[in-house]
Amino acid sequence: MGGIVLDENPVRPTAVEVAAEGLLDVAAEVVAVPVWPADTAAEAVQAPASGADPDDGAGGSGPWIGPGGAELVDALGLDPLWLMERENASGRAGEIVSIPIFDEGRGASSADGETDVTRVLLVGLGDGSPASYRKAGAALARAVRGVNRLSTTVAAGAEDDSCVRAFVEGVVLATFSLGTFRSKPGKPPLITLVLAGLGEPASETVRKATTVASASWYARELVHMPSNVKDPAWLAERAEEIGHAHGMDVYVRDEKKLAAEGFGGLVAVGMGSSRPPRLIALRYEPPGAPADVPHVVLAGKGITFDSGGLSLKKSDPMATMKTDMSGAAVVMGVLSAVRELGVAVRVTGLVAAAENMPGRSAQRPSDVIMQYDGTTVEVLNTDAEGRLVLADAIAYAVAELEPSVVVDVATLTGAAATALGRSHAALYSTDDTLADDLLRAGEESGERMWRLPLVDDYRQALKSEVADIGHIDTAKMGGGSIIGALFLERFAKDVPWAHLDIAGVGRADKNRAELVKGGTAFGVRALLTWLESHPAK
Ligand code: BES
Ligand code: MN
Ligand code: ZN
Repeated sequence: MGGIVLDENPVRPTAVEVAAEGLLDVAAEVVAVPVWPADTAAEAVQAPASGADPDDGAGGSGPWIGPGGAELVDALGLDPLWLMERENASGRAGEIVSIPIFDEGRGASSADGETDVTRVLLVGLGDGSPASYRKAGAALARAVRGVNRLSTTVAAGAEDDSCVRAFVEGVVLATFSLGTFRSKPGKPPLITLVLAGLGEPASETVRKATTVASASWYARELVHMPSNVKDPAWLAERAEEIGHAHGMDVYVRDEKKLAAEGFGGLVAVGMGSSRPPRLIALRYEPPGAPADVPHVVLAGKGITFDSGGLSLKKSDPMATMKTDMSGAAVVMGVLSAVRELGVAVRVTGLVAAAENMPGRSAQRPSDVIMQYDGTTVEVLNTDAEGRLVLADAIAYAVAELEPSVVVDVATLTGAAATALGRSHAALYSTDDTLADDLLRAGEESGERMWRLPLVDDYRQALKSEVADIGHIDTAKMGGGSIIGALFLERFAKDVPWAHLDIAGVGRADKNRAELVKGGTAFGVRALLTWLESHPAK
């Protein structure tokens, strides 16, 4: 093949440092201090405002300012609360008041003339919840694009670790910037975030936050990679890199092995492409774990491009289908972080990778294939390819890996997006505890899910006249995301199973809070939060 080699300009995630020193004692061009609205300050902030006379805020007349406020007054001669009033600012979550600081001789000067600060930002924290901290972090990140170093006391003003973590994740995720294939790279995002006034104990929380955000960042990079570069073999190479970097076993099955071992779904979907399918397994063993430690299997849909196959998509819906491997990217992102987060359970990541193309040997609507567990399936629409590759992965996990639980992640159906839009993923599960744990992890991490039912009556939609089952709803029952979930469910047999349909949330159509337009890698944060809390017994 050979040909043109694309050279990407990579961008590194924002670095985060913890500094015991105060806001202005660390060198930075821009500094940011937290502010809270008057009405929430009483609950959100225990200590009185440090910057100004506490009566200014405590009286209920104006907002509160957090640590660092006094330094602004003393060193820069600013009156932040007065400025907020002038700007009509309230301190709601994500509100930013930007105050330029001029050099001496060019307008207003800093009081002692010793600071390099060019700008002061007041960052609204609303009700002081983790969600507000995440939102504030994202807004702050957007306000400082192109800045080298930002010093802030927002984290120092936080009440607990979950707020610090949410804030750091918000900043790092919102500064996400794609490496591009442009000959001249664009402006880099924020380079270093310095958390001033934070003691050493916080560094563990910060390390976890940056690990999670970097995993999410990495998964987003995989999602955005164009499909002329990424194919199943390319994904396998990335998995090898992850395994190498984090001391994990990686096992890749190529198309010959897949055919020989009976992975009929992967083979059928992959055969329309000149770039053959792969089943990739990444194995994480927690150090020193007992033999009977729970085993979590994560399976990701890895369609590196979904043209629809012979049931070809129209141009518009096809245009974004390089992102149809988001589930795989999420699984790979999660596996890249489990060791650093000290996850206590065994985790296997399975990536079912194939390119769905209408090539000369493509599968046809009405073909009958056999999945890994022996179930025969009548393929009725080659655009419902995700369930075919995932069924093999789930069946393989159940038959060979002795999983305690299987969770799959997939951009499976447009119907999930129709039902829930862009803020909630569709969650299905055969196990209430598992579903509740995932819902909670989703709330905590800012990746929200909504549980939908595995409706018994709808099973009849999957009847086939020639095979064990059909694979789409020919009875026109509606509920397309549910039908997709019902198809997958049978391959999990009696193993507790959950399915996350991220078709709606996998892409952001515009910048929104910590999300950046494009692939969101939805699920990395929620699954890591869930795994972190997963007991070893
Ligand atoms: N990858 C698509 C689902 C999708 C749609 C993801 C929009 C992200 C955004 C999937 O393979 C697909 O084509 N599903 C079909 C299923 C149908 C043929 C039963 C769909 O949703 O239309
Ligand atoms: Mn499809
Ligand atoms: Zn697809």
